Amino acid sequence: MQVALGVTGGIAAYKSAELLRRLQDRGFEVQVIMTDAARQFVTPLTFAALSGRKVITGLFDEAAGEANLASVIEHTAVAQNMDALVIAPATADIIAKMAAGIADDFLTTLYLAARAPTIVAPAMNVNMWEHPATQHNLQILRDRGVHVIEPEEGYLACGMIGAGRLAAVETIAQTVFETLSQRSDLEGETVLVTAGRTEEPLDPCRFLSNRSSGKMGYALAEAARRRGARVTLISGRSSVDPPPGMVVERVRTALEMMEAVNKHFHEVTIFLMAAAVADFRPMRIAPAKLKRNSGALALRLEPTADILGEVARRRKPRQLLVGFAAETENVVSNASAKLRAKQLDLMVANDVTQPGAGFEVDTNIVTLLFADGRQIPLQKMGKLDVAHRILDAVAQLRSKLGAEKTLAIHVSTEPAEGSGQLR
Ligand SMILES: Cc1cc2nc3c(=O)[nH]c(=O)nc-3n(C[C@H](O)[C@H](O)[C@H](O)COP(=O)(O)O)c2cc1C
Repeated sequence: MQVALGVTGGIAAYKSAELLRRLQDRGFEVQVIMTDAARQFVTPLTFAALSGRKVITGLFDEAAGEANLASVIEHTAVAQNMDALVIAPATADIIAKMAAGIADDFLTTLYLAARAPTIVAPAMNVNMWEHPATQHNLQILRDRGVHVIEPEEGYLACGMIGAGRLAAVETIAQTVFETLSQRSDLEGETVLVTAGRTEEPLDPCRFLSNRSSGKMGYALAEAARRRGARVTLISGRSSVDPPPGMVVERVRTALEMMEAVNKHFHEVTIFLMAAAVADFRPMRIAPAKLKRNSGALALRLEPTADILGEVARRRKPRQLLVGFAAETENVVSNASAKLRAKQLDLMVANDVTQPGAGFEVDTNIVTLLFADGRQIPLQKMGKLDVAHRILDAVAQLRSKLGAEKTLAIHVSTEPAEGSGQLR
Protein backbone atom coordinates (compact mmCIF):
# COMPACT_ATOMS: atom_id res chain seq x y z
CA MET A 1 0.00 0.00 0.00
CA GLN A 2 1.15 3.50 -0.75
CA VAL A 3 1.00 6.44 1.62
CA ALA A 4 1.51 10.01 0.39
CA LEU A 5 3.28 11.87 3.19
CA GLY A 6 2.85 15.64 3.02
CA VAL A 7 5.44 17.63 4.97
CA THR A 8 4.70 21.31 5.63
CA GLY A 9 6.69 24.24 6.99
CA GLY A 10 6.88 23.84 10.75
CA ILE A 11 9.66 23.14 13.21
CA ALA A 12 8.36 19.58 13.60
CA ALA A 13 9.17 18.85 9.92
CA TYR A 14 12.30 17.00 11.07
CA LYS A 15 10.06 14.47 12.85
CA SER A 16 8.54 13.47 9.49
CA ALA A 17 11.74 11.60 8.67
CA GLU A 18 11.13 9.35 11.68
CA LEU A 19 7.47 9.02 10.70
CA LEU A 20 8.52 7.89 7.23
CA ARG A 21 10.60 5.13 8.83
CA ARG A 22 7.74 3.99 11.08
CA LEU A 23 5.41 3.85 8.07
CA GLN A 24 7.95 1.78 6.16
CA ASP A 25 8.27 -0.53 9.19
CA ARG A 26 4.57 -1.23 8.78
CA GLY A 27 5.08 -2.19 5.16
CA PHE A 28 3.91 0.98 3.44
CA GLU A 29 5.56 2.55 0.43
CA VAL A 30 5.89 6.25 1.11
CA GLN A 31 5.85 9.07 -1.44
CA VAL A 32 6.92 12.33 0.19
CA ILE A 33 5.53 15.69 -0.94
CA MET A 34 7.05 18.85 0.55
CA THR A 35 5.70 22.38 0.50
CA ASP A 36 8.10 25.22 -0.31
CA ALA A 37 8.08 26.25 3.35
CA ALA A 38 8.92 22.70 4.47
CA ARG A 39 12.11 22.87 2.39
CA GLN A 40 13.27 25.74 4.61
CA PHE A 41 13.31 23.32 7.53
CA VAL A 42 14.50 19.98 6.06
CA THR A 43 16.05 19.15 2.71
CA PRO A 44 14.25 16.89 0.22
CA LEU A 45 17.47 14.87 0.11
CA THR A 46 16.74 13.48 3.60
CA PHE A 47 13.37 12.11 2.51
CA ALA A 48 14.61 10.98 -0.91
CA ALA A 49 17.40 8.99 0.74
CA LEU A 50 15.03 7.41 3.28
CA SER A 51 12.19 6.66 0.87
CA GLY A 52 14.30 5.74 -2.14
CA ARG A 53 12.03 7.96 -4.26
CA LYS A 54 12.17 11.40 -5.71
CA VAL A 55 10.49 13.87 -3.38
CA ILE A 56 7.74 15.89 -5.04
CA THR A 57 8.17 19.57 -4.30
CA GLY A 58 6.39 21.74 -6.87
CA LEU A 59 3.41 21.83 -9.16
CA PHE A 60 5.21 23.70 -11.90
CA ASP A 61 8.57 23.40 -13.56
CA GLU A 62 11.34 25.64 -12.33
CA ALA A 63 11.70 26.92 -15.91
CA ALA A 64 8.99 29.57 -15.91
CA GLY A 65 6.39 29.33 -18.63
CA GLU A 66 7.19 25.80 -19.70
CA ALA A 67 4.58 23.10 -19.42
CA ASN A 68 5.73 20.48 -16.93
CA LEU A 69 4.39 17.24 -18.31
CA ALA A 70 6.24 15.22 -15.69
CA SER A 71 4.38 17.08 -12.94
CA VAL A 72 1.00 16.37 -14.52
CA ILE A 73 1.81 12.68 -14.75
CA GLU A 74 3.21 12.60 -11.21
CA HIS A 75 0.21 14.40 -9.82
CA THR A 76 -2.27 12.04 -11.44
CA ALA A 77 -0.25 8.96 -10.54
CA VAL A 78 0.12 9.89 -6.88
CA ALA A 79 -3.58 10.78 -6.58
CA GLN A 80 -4.60 7.49 -8.19
CA ASN A 81 -2.16 5.18 -6.47
CA MET A 82 -2.15 6.41 -2.91
CA ASP A 83 -4.19 4.60 -0.30
CA ALA A 84 -3.94 7.44 2.22
CA LEU A 85 -2.77 11.03 2.39
CA VAL A 86 -1.01 11.89 5.64
CA ILE A 87 0.04 15.47 6.37
CA ALA A 88 2.46 15.64 9.30
CA PRO A 89 3.27 18.15 10.52
CA ALA A 90 0.31 20.16 9.24
CA THR A 91 0.76 23.91 9.60
CA ALA A 92 -2.07 26.31 10.40
CA ASP A 93 -1.56 27.52 6.84
CA ILE A 94 -2.13 24.16 5.11
CA ILE A 95 -5.15 23.47 7.32
CA ALA A 96 -6.65 26.83 6.27
CA LYS A 97 -5.95 26.15 2.60
CA MET A 98 -7.49 22.69 2.77
CA ALA A 99 -10.59 24.06 4.51
CA ALA A 100 -10.96 26.77 1.86
CA GLY A 101 -10.27 24.43 -1.06
CA ILE A 102 -7.23 26.40 -2.21
CA ALA A 103 -5.01 24.41 -4.57
CA ASP A 104 -1.89 26.50 -5.16
CA ASP A 105 0.82 23.87 -4.77
CA PHE A 106 1.25 20.15 -5.29
CA LEU A 107 0.09 19.11 -1.81
CA THR A 108 -3.08 21.20 -1.70
CA THR A 109 -3.96 20.20 -5.28
CA LEU A 110 -3.40 16.55 -4.40
CA TYR A 111 -5.72 16.88 -1.39
CA LEU A 112 -8.53 18.12 -3.65
CA ALA A 113 -7.85 15.55 -6.36
CA ALA A 114 -7.61 12.54 -4.04
CA ARG A 115 -10.42 10.25 -2.89
CA ALA A 116 -8.26 8.36 -0.39
CA PRO A 117 -8.65 8.88 3.38
CA THR A 118 -6.79 11.94 4.64
CA ILE A 119 -5.11 12.23 8.03
CA VAL A 120 -3.64 15.48 9.35
CA ALA A 121 -1.38 15.87 12.38
CA PRO A 122 -1.25 19.60 13.23
CA ALA A 123 1.75 21.15 14.97
CA MET A 124 2.07 24.82 15.84
CA ASN A 125 2.43 27.44 18.51
CA VAL A 126 -0.32 27.22 21.17
CA ASN A 127 -1.85 30.58 20.21
CA MET A 128 -2.04 29.54 16.55
CA TRP A 129 -3.63 26.26 17.64
CA GLU A 130 -6.21 27.91 19.87
CA HIS A 131 -7.05 30.66 17.38
CA PRO A 132 -10.72 30.48 16.37
CA ALA A 133 -9.70 30.53 12.70
CA THR A 134 -7.59 27.37 13.11
CA GLN A 135 -10.23 25.61 15.22
CA HIS A 136 -12.95 26.54 12.73
CA ASN A 137 -10.85 25.27 9.80
CA LEU A 138 -10.16 22.01 11.61
CA GLN A 139 -13.85 21.51 12.27
CA ILE A 140 -14.55 21.98 8.56
CA LEU A 141 -12.01 19.27 7.79
CA ARG A 142 -13.40 16.92 10.46
CA ASP A 143 -16.89 17.44 9.08
CA ARG A 144 -15.60 16.37 5.68
CA GLY A 145 -14.25 13.16 7.13
CA VAL A 146 -10.59 14.18 7.47
CA HIS A 147 -9.04 12.44 10.46
CA VAL A 148 -7.36 15.00 12.72
CA ILE A 149 -4.74 13.65 15.15
CA GLU A 150 -4.81 16.14 17.99
CA PRO A 151 -1.47 17.67 18.97
CA GLU A 152 -0.10 17.04 22.44
CA GLU A 153 0.38 19.51 25.27
CA GLY A 154 3.86 20.33 26.43
CA TYR A 155 6.90 22.50 25.94
CA LEU A 156 6.80 23.97 22.43
CA ALA A 157 9.70 24.99 20.19
CA CYS A 158 8.60 28.64 20.50
CA GLY A 159 9.29 28.47 24.25
CA MET A 160 5.61 28.44 25.27
CA ILE A 161 3.84 25.66 27.10
CA GLY A 162 0.46 24.37 25.85
CA ALA A 163 -1.25 22.37 23.10
CA GLY A 164 0.41 22.36 19.70
CA ARG A 165 3.21 19.79 19.83
CA LEU A 166 3.03 17.21 17.05
CA ALA A 167 1.43 13.97 18.27
CA ALA A 168 3.90 11.15 18.89
CA VAL A 169 5.24 9.76 15.62
CA GLU A 170 4.24 6.26 16.75
CA THR A 171 0.64 7.43 17.31
CA ILE A 172 0.51 8.89 13.80
CA ALA A 173 1.98 5.75 12.21
CA GLN A 174 -0.44 3.54 14.14
CA THR A 175 -3.43 5.70 13.10
CA VAL A 176 -2.42 5.37 9.46
CA PHE A 177 -2.05 1.61 9.90
CA GLU A 178 -5.46 1.27 11.56
CA THR A 179 -7.15 3.46 8.97
CA LEU A 180 -5.77 1.34 6.16
CA SER A 181 -6.41 -2.00 7.86
CA GLN A 182 -10.04 -0.97 8.21
CA ARG A 183 -10.13 -0.58 4.50
CA SER A 184 -10.37 -4.23 3.67
CA ASP A 185 -12.47 -5.56 6.55
CA LEU A 186 -15.62 -5.71 4.39
CA GLU A 187 -13.92 -7.42 1.47
CA GLY A 188 -16.14 -10.20 0.13
CA GLU A 189 -19.30 -8.57 1.54
CA THR A 190 -22.19 -7.46 -0.65
CA VAL A 191 -23.73 -4.39 0.88
CA LEU A 192 -27.11 -2.88 0.05
CA VAL A 193 -27.64 0.70 1.17
CA THR A 194 -30.84 2.69 0.83
CA ALA A 195 -30.58 6.46 1.11
CA GLY A 196 -32.35 9.73 0.44
CA ARG A 197 -36.03 10.60 0.75
CA THR A 198 -39.06 9.16 -0.97
CA GLU A 199 -41.72 11.34 -2.61
CA GLU A 200 -45.41 10.42 -2.53
CA PRO A 201 -47.35 12.21 -5.29
CA LEU A 202 -50.51 14.17 -4.52
CA ASP A 203 -51.21 15.37 -8.04
CA PRO A 204 -49.03 15.73 -11.18
CA CYS A 205 -47.30 18.80 -9.67
CA ARG A 206 -47.04 18.09 -5.93
CA PHE A 207 -45.80 15.44 -3.55
CA LEU A 208 -45.29 14.73 0.16
CA SER A 209 -41.68 14.25 1.22
CA ASN A 210 -39.27 15.01 4.08
CA ARG A 211 -36.03 16.84 4.87
CA SER A 212 -33.59 13.98 4.33
CA SER A 213 -30.54 15.03 2.30
CA GLY A 214 -29.26 11.49 1.69
CA LYS A 215 -25.84 12.45 3.14
CA MET A 216 -25.78 9.82 5.90
CA GLY A 217 -26.77 6.98 3.56
CA TYR A 218 -24.31 8.09 0.91
CA ALA A 219 -21.56 8.26 3.54
CA LEU A 220 -22.38 4.68 4.57
CA ALA A 221 -22.24 3.52 0.95
CA GLU A 222 -18.94 5.31 0.41
CA ALA A 223 -17.41 3.97 3.64
CA ALA A 224 -18.52 0.41 2.83
CA ARG A 225 -16.97 0.66 -0.65
CA ARG A 226 -13.74 2.04 0.78
CA ARG A 227 -13.60 -0.93 3.14
CA GLY A 228 -13.71 -3.36 0.26
CA ALA A 229 -17.44 -4.20 -0.02
CA ARG A 230 -19.38 -4.51 -3.26
CA VAL A 231 -22.07 -1.87 -2.83
CA THR A 232 -25.49 -1.32 -4.36
CA LEU A 233 -27.09 2.00 -3.48
CA ILE A 234 -30.84 2.41 -3.83
CA SER A 235 -31.49 6.10 -3.63
CA GLY A 236 -34.57 8.23 -3.38
CA ARG A 237 -34.26 11.95 -4.01
CA SER A 238 -31.11 13.42 -2.44
CA SER A 239 -29.29 16.71 -2.21
CA VAL A 240 -25.82 15.34 -3.01
CA ASP A 241 -24.24 13.28 -5.80
CA PRO A 242 -23.87 9.56 -5.16
CA PRO A 243 -20.32 8.33 -4.50
CA PRO A 244 -18.44 6.63 -7.35
CA GLY A 245 -17.60 2.95 -7.61
CA MET A 246 -21.01 1.39 -6.96
CA VAL A 247 -24.24 0.42 -8.67
CA VAL A 248 -26.81 3.17 -8.12
CA GLU A 249 -30.53 2.57 -8.60
CA ARG A 250 -32.85 5.57 -8.44
CA VAL A 251 -36.38 5.33 -7.05
CA ARG A 252 -39.04 7.88 -6.21
CA THR A 253 -41.79 6.45 -4.00
CA ALA A 254 -41.84 4.12 -0.98
CA LEU A 255 -43.36 1.45 -3.22
CA GLU A 256 -40.55 1.76 -5.78
CA MET A 257 -38.00 1.57 -2.96
CA MET A 258 -39.68 -1.58 -1.62
CA GLU A 259 -39.54 -3.18 -5.09
CA ALA A 260 -35.88 -2.29 -5.54
CA VAL A 261 -35.00 -3.66 -2.08
CA ASN A 262 -36.91 -6.87 -2.80
CA LYS A 263 -34.96 -7.27 -6.03
CA HIS A 264 -31.58 -7.10 -4.29
CA PHE A 265 -32.15 -8.30 -0.72
CA HIS A 266 -31.64 -12.01 -1.41
CA GLU A 267 -28.10 -11.39 -2.72
CA VAL A 268 -26.79 -9.11 0.04
CA THR A 269 -24.77 -9.90 3.10
CA ILE A 270 -25.15 -6.48 4.71
CA PHE A 271 -28.24 -4.29 4.44
CA LEU A 272 -28.05 -0.65 5.53
CA MET A 273 -31.42 0.97 5.13
CA ALA A 274 -30.68 4.64 5.61
CA ALA A 275 -33.48 5.95 3.43
CA ALA A 276 -36.12 8.27 4.82
CA VAL A 277 -39.15 6.39 3.60
CA ALA A 278 -42.56 8.01 3.91
CA ASP A 279 -44.79 6.26 6.44
CA PHE A 280 -47.90 7.52 4.66
CA ARG A 281 -48.97 8.30 1.12
CA PRO A 282 -52.10 10.00 -0.28
CA MET A 283 -54.89 7.44 -0.79
CA ARG A 284 -55.72 9.05 -4.09
CA ILE A 285 -53.44 10.80 -6.57
CA ALA A 286 -55.40 13.54 -8.35
CA PRO A 287 -55.06 13.08 -12.13
CA ALA A 288 -54.95 16.87 -12.68
CA LYS A 289 -53.44 19.71 -10.69
CA LEU A 290 -55.52 20.48 -7.58
CA LYS A 291 -56.97 24.01 -7.81
CA ARG A 292 -57.07 26.50 -4.95
CA ASN A 293 -60.50 27.75 -5.95
CA SER A 294 -61.99 24.29 -5.25
CA GLY A 295 -61.96 25.32 -1.56
CA ALA A 296 -60.72 23.44 1.51
CA LEU A 297 -58.91 20.21 0.76
CA ALA A 298 -58.87 17.17 3.07
CA LEU A 299 -56.02 14.77 2.50
CA ARG A 300 -56.57 11.10 3.29
CA LEU A 301 -53.34 9.20 3.84
CA GLU A 302 -52.68 5.48 4.03
CA PRO A 303 -49.64 3.77 5.54
CA THR A 304 -46.91 2.64 3.18
CA ALA A 305 -45.31 -0.78 3.44
CA ASP A 306 -42.80 -1.28 6.26
CA ILE A 307 -39.76 -2.18 4.16
CA LEU A 308 -37.56 -3.16 7.09
CA GLY A 309 -40.30 -5.15 8.76
CA GLU A 310 -40.94 -7.10 5.54
CA VAL A 311 -37.29 -7.76 4.90
CA ALA A 312 -36.67 -8.77 8.52
CA ARG A 313 -39.36 -11.44 8.23
CA ARG A 314 -37.66 -12.90 5.16
CA ARG A 315 -34.08 -12.70 6.35
CA LYS A 316 -31.93 -15.74 5.84
CA PRO A 317 -30.01 -17.19 8.76
CA ARG A 318 -26.86 -15.99 7.03
CA GLN A 319 -28.07 -12.40 7.11
CA LEU A 320 -27.78 -9.86 9.93
CA LEU A 321 -29.89 -6.71 10.23
CA VAL A 322 -28.89 -3.32 11.62
CA GLY A 323 -31.27 -0.36 11.93
CA PHE A 324 -30.97 3.42 12.12
CA ALA A 325 -33.82 5.25 13.85
CA ALA A 326 -34.10 9.01 13.74
CA GLU A 327 -36.22 10.18 16.65
CA THR A 328 -37.38 13.45 18.15
CA GLU A 329 -38.29 12.21 21.65
CA ASN A 330 -37.46 9.24 23.90
CA VAL A 331 -34.73 8.54 21.40
CA VAL A 332 -33.04 5.53 22.96
CA SER A 333 -36.19 3.81 24.25
CA ASN A 334 -38.01 4.24 20.91
CA ALA A 335 -35.02 3.01 18.95
CA SER A 336 -34.55 0.04 21.33
CA ALA A 337 -38.18 -0.91 20.85
CA LYS A 338 -37.67 -0.96 17.07
CA LEU A 339 -34.49 -2.98 17.46
CA ARG A 340 -36.37 -5.62 19.45
CA ALA A 341 -39.56 -5.58 17.35
CA LYS A 342 -37.65 -6.13 14.13
CA GLN A 343 -35.00 -8.35 15.70
CA LEU A 344 -32.15 -6.30 14.35
CA ASP A 345 -28.56 -6.88 15.34
CA LEU A 346 -27.69 -3.21 15.65
CA MET A 347 -29.73 0.00 15.73
CA VAL A 348 -28.28 3.45 15.27
CA ALA A 349 -30.35 5.94 17.28
CA ASN A 350 -30.29 9.51 16.04
CA ASP A 351 -31.80 12.49 17.92
CA VAL A 352 -32.58 14.79 15.01
CA THR A 353 -33.50 17.70 17.28
CA GLN A 354 -29.88 18.25 18.42
CA PRO A 355 -27.85 20.94 16.64
CA GLY A 356 -25.32 19.23 14.36
CA ALA A 357 -27.41 16.06 14.00
CA GLY A 358 -29.92 14.72 11.51
CA PHE A 359 -31.12 16.44 8.35
CA GLU A 360 -29.11 18.41 5.82
CA VAL A 361 -26.07 19.00 8.08
CA ASP A 362 -22.72 17.31 7.43
CA THR A 363 -22.37 16.03 11.01
CA ASN A 364 -24.36 13.60 13.13
CA ILE A 365 -24.71 12.53 16.77
CA VAL A 366 -25.79 8.92 17.24
CA THR A 367 -25.94 6.14 19.80
CA LEU A 368 -25.24 2.57 18.73
CA LEU A 369 -27.67 0.07 20.30
CA PHE A 370 -26.80 -3.62 20.15
CA ALA A 371 -29.13 -6.59 20.36
CA ASP A 372 -27.33 -7.72 23.52
CA GLY A 373 -28.29 -4.47 25.30
CA ARG A 374 -24.97 -2.61 24.93
CA GLN A 375 -25.21 1.11 24.15
CA ILE A 376 -22.37 3.22 22.73
CA PRO A 377 -23.03 6.98 22.47
CA LEU A 378 -20.79 8.71 19.88
CA GLN A 379 -19.66 12.34 19.93
CA LYS A 380 -20.70 14.76 17.19
CA MET A 381 -18.62 13.95 14.10
CA GLY A 382 -18.71 14.14 10.30
CA LYS A 383 -21.15 11.74 8.63
CA LEU A 384 -18.32 9.80 6.96
CA ASP A 385 -16.73 9.27 10.38
CA VAL A 386 -20.11 8.18 11.79
CA ALA A 387 -20.44 5.78 8.87
CA HIS A 388 -17.04 4.25 9.66
CA ARG A 389 -17.94 3.87 13.35
CA ILE A 390 -21.14 2.07 12.36
CA LEU A 391 -19.17 -0.18 10.02
CA ASP A 392 -16.59 -0.81 12.78
CA ALA A 393 -19.47 -2.16 14.87
CA VAL A 394 -20.73 -4.19 11.92
CA ALA A 395 -17.27 -5.65 11.31
CA GLN A 396 -17.05 -6.60 14.99
CA LEU A 397 -20.45 -8.27 14.91
CA ARG A 398 -19.42 -10.07 11.77
CA SER A 399 -16.23 -11.44 13.30
CA LYS A 400 -18.12 -12.48 16.45
CA LEU A 401 -20.69 -14.34 14.45
CA GLY A 402 -18.05 -15.92 12.32
CA ALA A 403 -17.57 -15.83 8.61
CA GLU A 404 -20.58 -18.06 8.12
CA LYS A 405 -23.12 -15.51 9.23
CA THR A 406 -24.25 -12.75 6.96
CA LEU A 407 -24.83 -9.26 8.20
CA ALA A 408 -27.78 -7.20 7.12
CA ILE A 409 -28.33 -3.73 8.36
CA HIS A 410 -31.34 -1.53 8.40
CA VAL A 411 -30.65 2.14 8.55
CA SER A 412 -33.60 4.52 8.60
CA THR A 413 -32.49 8.03 9.36
CA GLU A 414 -35.18 10.47 8.57
CA PRO A 415 -38.77 11.26 9.53
CA ALA A 416 -41.47 9.99 7.27
CA GLU A 417 -43.83 12.49 5.74
CA GLY A 418 -47.09 13.20 7.43
CA SER A 419 -46.53 11.93 10.94
CA GLY A 420 -42.97 12.98 11.61
CA GLN A 421 -42.48 9.33 12.59
CA LEU A 422 -39.34 7.64 11.55
CA ARG A 423 -38.86 4.18 10.37
C1 LIG B 1 11.01 29.26 12.40
C2 LIG B 1 9.58 29.06 11.96
C3 LIG B 1 8.84 28.06 12.53
C4 LIG B 1 7.51 27.85 12.16
N1 LIG B 1 6.81 26.85 12.74
C5 LIG B 1 5.51 26.68 12.43
C6 LIG B 1 4.76 25.65 13.04
O1 LIG B 1 5.25 24.87 13.86
N2 LIG B 1 3.46 25.52 12.70
C7 LIG B 1 2.86 26.35 11.80
O2 LIG B 1 1.66 26.20 11.56
N3 LIG B 1 3.56 27.32 11.18
C8 LIG B 1 4.88 27.51 11.48
N4 LIG B 1 5.58 28.50 10.86
C9 LIG B 1 4.92 29.32 9.82
C10 LIG B 1 4.86 28.59 8.49
O3 LIG B 1 6.15 28.21 8.08
C11 LIG B 1 4.20 29.48 7.46
O4 LIG B 1 2.85 29.70 7.83
C12 LIG B 1 4.26 28.91 6.06
O5 LIG B 1 3.58 29.76 5.18
C13 LIG B 1 3.64 27.51 5.99
O6 LIG B 1 3.62 27.09 4.65
P1 LIG B 1 3.08 25.64 4.24
O7 LIG B 1 1.82 25.43 4.97
O8 LIG B 1 2.87 25.75 2.75
O9 LIG B 1 4.14 24.65 4.54
C14 LIG B 1 6.93 28.70 11.20
C15 LIG B 1 7.69 29.70 10.61
C16 LIG B 1 9.00 29.89 10.98
C17 LIG B 1 9.80 30.97 10.32
